[in-house]
Amino acid sequence: MHVLLAGATGAVGRQLLPLLLAAGHQVTAVTRTAAGAATLRAQGAGAVRLDVLDRAAVERAVAAAAPDAVVHQLTALAEYDLAANARIRREGTRNLVDAAHGAGVPRIVAQSIAWAYRGGDAPADETVPLDDTTEEPRATTVGALLALEEAAAELPEHVLLRYGMLYGPGTWYAKGGLMADRLHRGELSAGAAVTSFLHVEDAARAALAALAWPSGAVNVVDDEPAPAHEWLPALAAALGAPAPARSTGRAAWERGADNTLARTARGWRPTRPSWRTGFAELG
Ligand SMILES: NC(=O)c1ccc[n+]([C@@H]2O[C@H](COP(=O)([O-])OP(=O)(O)OC[C@H]3O[C@@H](n4cnc5c(N)ncnc54)[C@H](OP(=O)(O)O)[C@@H]3O)[C@@H](O)[C@H]2O)c1
Repeated sequence: MHVLLAGATGAVGRQLLPLLLAAGHQVTAVTRTAAGAATLRAQGAGAVRLDVLDRAAVERAVAAAAPDAVVHQLTALAEYDLAANARIRREGTRNLVDAAHGAGVPRIVAQSIAWAYRGGDAPADETVPLDDTTEEPRATTVGALLALEEAAAELPEHVLLRYGMLYGPGTWYAKGGLMADRLHRGELSAGAAVTSFLHVEDAARAALAALAWPSGAVNVVDDEPAPAHEWLPALAAALGAPAPARSTGRAAWERGADNTLARTARGWRPTRPSWRTGFAELG
């Protein structure tokens, strides 16, 4: 299959590109930078330099590549800029979907998140509606995800990968990452908020497999949603940071996500089924 990979140089894209190439796919990989393009070409991909916010350029690039599928692993989170990230999700996705539509590309696999569900007491499955909160900054994030998912669903074949919180190389949850810094500064406390994690390599494996999945949203998370008072001390220990203070309480949406659909109907299995063992690799 010929795949146009947007976000090829990001945390997930870096893991995904070699998997796609090893599986025999032809890849046209997107980056904004000359350095990114050189790296992608050295790995064996075709590279196209492009800002996905430039609608005409996206249209030209997708038409020229004429791929069988678009894989969307774009975020704008390197600076933890939630507004910029929401813009990439809204406008970047809009531009990619319209360009794909215009070029007759039938399939998109797009990155979403598994913590945008309405509140509840148990981990959410895919039947739970996305949160229609008006509370900022969550409203900006969820609104942009709704726009991303709705736009992607305009293509006849669309898989929405609702990823858990990524950890592992190149993520916030790694040595030298954002969370390590925050733990060292004592900014985090361990309450009852539940998170579902996902090793970044498992995120990439799911994206590769999703090229053949039926349309729809799928939670791609590990097997063990857990409250912060369980996972945060383990993360601190793995990263060599001081143990966090204990706190209480969680927002209703901090509920984790259920991966039954991915495991049973899609045959996806995380290679790191639990953050308990996965975090131990971070040291
Ligand atoms: N589910 C999750 O927990 C989750 C999901 C995603 C990210 N994150 C976190 O966010 C952090 C940063 O992610 P990241 O390292 O992947 O970097 P990032 O800055 O979010 O960039 C990701 C990818 O998007 C591309 N991109 C961004 N804006 C673009 C634009 N306007 N046009 C074309 N391409 C664009 C980048 O390409 P170029 O820069 O090469 O142009 C890069 O390939 C990570 O530490 C990760 O932990 C978490």
